[in-house]
Amino acid sequence: MKSIVDTSSLHEGISRVLAVFQKLRELRGADAILDRILLEAREICNAEAGSILLVKEDRLVFSIVHNDFLFSAHGINKHLYLDASVPIDDFSIAGYTAKHSETLRLDDVYALPPSYSFKFNPALDKQSGYRTKSVLSLPLINFQGRVCAVLQLINSLDQDDKAVSFPEEAVACVSLLANHASACIENGMTTNELILRTIRMSELRDPAETGPHVQRVGAYSAEIYHRMAQESGLDASEIKRRKDLIRMTAMLHDVGKVGISDVILKKPGKLTSEEYEVMKRHTLYGAHLFRNAVSEMDVMAREIALNHHQRFDGKGYPGRVSNIEDVDAMTVGTMAGEDIPLQARIVALADVFDALISKRAYKEPWTIGMALDVIRKESGQQFDPEVVSAFLSILDVIEAIRAKYQEAV
Ligand SMILES: [Fe+2]
Ligand SMILES: [Fe+2]
Repeated sequence: MKSIVDTSSLHEGISRVLAVFQKLRELRGADAILDRILLEAREICNAEAGSILLVKEDRLVFSIVHNDFLFSAHGINKHLYLDASVPIDDFSIAGYTAKHSETLRLDDVYALPPSYSFKFNPALDKQSGYRTKSVLSLPLINFQGRVCAVLQLINSLDQDDKAVSFPEEAVACVSLLANHASACIENGMTTNELILRTIRMSELRDPAETGPHVQRVGAYSAEIYHRMAQESGLDASEIKRRKDLIRMTAMLHDVGKVGISDVILKKPGKLTSEEYEVMKRHTLYGAHLFRNAVSEMDVMAREIALNHHQRFDGKGYPGRVSNIEDVDAMTVGTMAGEDIPLQARIVALADVFDALISKRAYKEPWTIGMALDVIRKESGQQFDPEVVSAFLSILDVIEAIRAKYQEAV
């Protein structure tokens, strides 16, 4: 990671911050936006680690965590789905930053003056062998003047990779980034919220399609895509951009169920073959909702809604469709293999896996082992073998996602 501070001026830092806003505009979901802001802030300060904590009621929830010493920010890791929070109070560095809306620049967190009310919590250092020294903790303030998040950077490294105090110019640039970042974060959260509201609407109709289920399917799909894309030679920021789109649009895979009658959706027993034929039309209804695609996100949402029940061997539904502009579109042939858009092949696996390990009205949850057996057995039949092998190689991440988005009890 190259820092601007050892080679260049404040001016270079400011131009860099302006360029970041352009990059942020290409991202849609809140998580991708937070990830990018953290990465850029770390590069400006040559910081080895950092995190962004979002304000949720009276707590700060860890939303993004990077640490080059412990894990790669560019790779896939379960720490992205860390489920931890701290209270907003006077006693932790982040809590104090949020409560008093004050930037803290600390040279050595193990030698804080005793007069400070906040203390550094060494638990993670002890557990991991990492040594936190310098910390920069900044509040992100929204347009209403309230703190909406805290950006924390850890260990600004000098040319010899030694942790030093955060340099003045870098702090000025990161403050500029932080001042504008909150608007981008709020845009991302609005997009997430709009999607979740749409999903709540379908949840009213189909109780199996819960908020946590779609969050899990979105996150599993994004991480499977990430693993597959790493092999493809695409550049890291393009991977992150597409991963963000897949995560958002995968959540909408079953939105077409709003067009299916309650009698069928809420039927406790097995569907008759006529009812099943009606149910299958949720794929066409979903695609129809995105028929006037005005963005790449709409196009992807349409492809996923239409194709998430296609099978790799061509025995899925709805097959090849005559004209998706038409709500009464007919199937005119089969669709198999790589003719099925990649994102739909990924969601097909993520959705089935999650359904198998979840409780449904007609079945108890399966164990992970049983679900994995089915996935392995169906590789090359129901599922794309490359998707299956990417999925099987990130089971620790899949498990972290499952732990983060649990059904309310
Ligand atoms: Fe579906
Ligand atoms: Fe689903």
